Amino acid sequence: MDYSIETSPLEKLECDCLMVGVYQDQQLAPSAQHLDGSTQGLISKILNRGDISGKNGETVLLNGLPDSPVQRILLVGLGENKPVSGKLYIKALAAAINSIKKPFIKSVVCALADCEVEQADVTWKTRQIAEVFSDAAYQYTHTKSDKTTESQIENIRICASGQDLAAAQTGLAQGQAIAEGVSFAKHLADLPGNLCTPTFLAEQAIALGGQFPKLTTHILEEADMQALGMGSLLSVSRGSRQPAKLISLDYQGGEKNSKPIVLVGKGLTFDAGGISLKPSLGMDEMKYDMCGGAAVLGTLLFAAKLNLPLNIIGLVPASENLPDGDANKPGDIVTSMSGQTIEILNTDAEGRLILCDMLTYAERFHPDVVIDLATLTGAVLVALGRIPSGLLGNDDGLCNDLIAASETANDSLWRLPLWEEYQELLKSNFADMANIGGKDAGTITAACFLSKFAGNFRWAHLDIAGTAWRTGPAKGATGRPVPLLSQYLLNRASQLA
Ligand code: BES
Ligand code: MN
Ligand code: ZN
Repeated sequence: MDYSIETSPLEKLECDCLMVGVYQDQQLAPSAQHLDGSTQGLISKILNRGDISGKNGETVLLNGLPDSPVQRILLVGLGENKPVSGKLYIKALAAAINSIKKPFIKSVVCALADCEVEQADVTWKTRQIAEVFSDAAYQYTHTKSDKTTESQIENIRICASGQDLAAAQTGLAQGQAIAEGVSFAKHLADLPGNLCTPTFLAEQAIALGGQFPKLTTHILEEADMQALGMGSLLSVSRGSRQPAKLISLDYQGGEKNSKPIVLVGKGLTFDAGGISLKPSLGMDEMKYDMCGGAAVLGTLLFAAKLNLPLNIIGLVPASENLPDGDANKPGDIVTSMSGQTIEILNTDAEGRLILCDMLTYAERFHPDVVIDLATLTGAVLVALGRIPSGLLGNDDGLCNDLIAASETANDSLWRLPLWEEYQELLKSNFADMANIGGKDAGTITAACFLSKFAGNFRWAHLDIAGTAWRTGPAKGATGRPVPLLSQYLLNRASQLA
C-alpha cells in the first residue's frame, strides 16, 4: 500500500473512495461540510434521512455521485461533536477501513485528520491513520493457496492543509515505520512453528541487518552459549532437535559512546511445556511464544527505518521447549550464566530460564536501560485480561516513561508490584532459587525471578502473554508492543534534541 499526503481541494480528487467524518445530531466535520457544499447538500440530505446517526464507528458508503471524480464517499461516524478521545478516534478509523475491504476500491482519500482529537496534533492523527489502516489491511496468506487479500487498496492519500504539510509528513513517516515493524512482527508470529524455527528467526534477523547500514546482526550458536556459561538457556533447548540461536542485533544510530537501550525478546518458537507438558487444547497458540522476539525485530526495523539517533541492542534467545529424553526434568538443577543455581520445578516455566541468561549477557553492553518483552505467564491473562500488557521493573523513572509512551501509542500497560515480600515464594531447598513460585501471583513471581538477574541496571519487564495475539475466530498476532516501544524510542530521541 502506497501512502502520501494530499493538499489539493477535495472536490478535485479522483479516487474510488473518499472518507469524511460526521458527528451526531447531523453535524459535519470540516471536510464533510466542504463536500456538502460542492454536492448540493448531498451529505446533509443523507444525514437528515437518518441513514447514519453519527455514532462513533458507524459508516455509510455513498455511491453514484453525479459528475464527480470521486466514485464513492464513506461517511464515518465520530460521535459527539467535540474533541474525541484518542481511543475513539482509532475506533472510528478502524471501522472506516474495515468497511471498504472491497475488490473494486483501490484508491482512497482519507480526510479524517481534520477532526479534533483530545491532546493530539496533526502528526499524531496522520500517524494513526497509517498505523490503523495498515493494521487492518494485514492478512496472513503465506501458507494459503489463495493469496488474494480482502483489502485490495493500492494507494491512500491523507488530506492535510498546506500549513500542516510538514507535520503530516512527519506523522506519515512515523506511522509507516511503525506499521512496517508491526507487520513484520505479525508475520513472523503468525508463521507456524515448523517453519518459524530458531534457525529461521536467525535468518530473518540477518536479512533485516542486511537492509540497513547501521544495523548489524550476529548469531551465537549453542557452542558459543556454552562457552559463555549459559547453562540455563541451553537446558531448555536440549529437549529439542532444533538448535538454539542467540540473535544479537546492534543498531548504531547514536553517538559512539552513548549507552545503548537493550531490548530482550523471548523467542520460544514453540512451547509445548517440555516434560511438564501442556494440555493439548489451544496448544497451537504456543507458536506465539516468540512474539517478544518478533517485537524486538519489528522495533529495530522501525528504529533503522527512521534512522533514530540512538544506540539500540536487540537480543533474542530463540529455542523450542519440547519433551524429549534429554529434556529438563522437574527437580533438575542448572547453573545460569550469572553463577546462580536454579531448581527447575516446572519445565513449562522455560521463558524465565532463557531470559535470565540474556539479562546477564546484557550487562556486557553497559546498558542505559534493559527492557524485556515476553509471553511469560498465563497468569497475566487472569490478572489483566487482553487489554494492557503487564509491566514490572526496578526503576520508577523507566516504568513511568514506558507508561507515558504506552498512552500516546494506544498500546497500554499496567504496572504490577515487584515487592521484596514476593521474592520468598521462589525459595528452593536445593538451589539458589526455584523457577516457579506456586499458585499465587504468577506474573509477579516470574518477574521476581528475572529481577535476580537484573540487579546491575535499570530494567523493565513487559509480560505480553495477553496482548501479543488474539485468540478465537480472529486468531492472529497483534504486533504489540511494537507501537509502544517505537513511541518510547521516539521520546528518547526527542529528549536528545
Ligand atoms: N509461554 C507460556 C506462557 C503462556 C501461557 C502464554 C498461556 C500465553 C498463554 C510460559 O512459558 C508458561 O508456560 N508459563 C507457565 C508458568 C507456570 C508453569 C509457572 C504458565 O503460565 O502456566
Ligand atoms: Mn512454558
Ligand atoms: Zn513459554
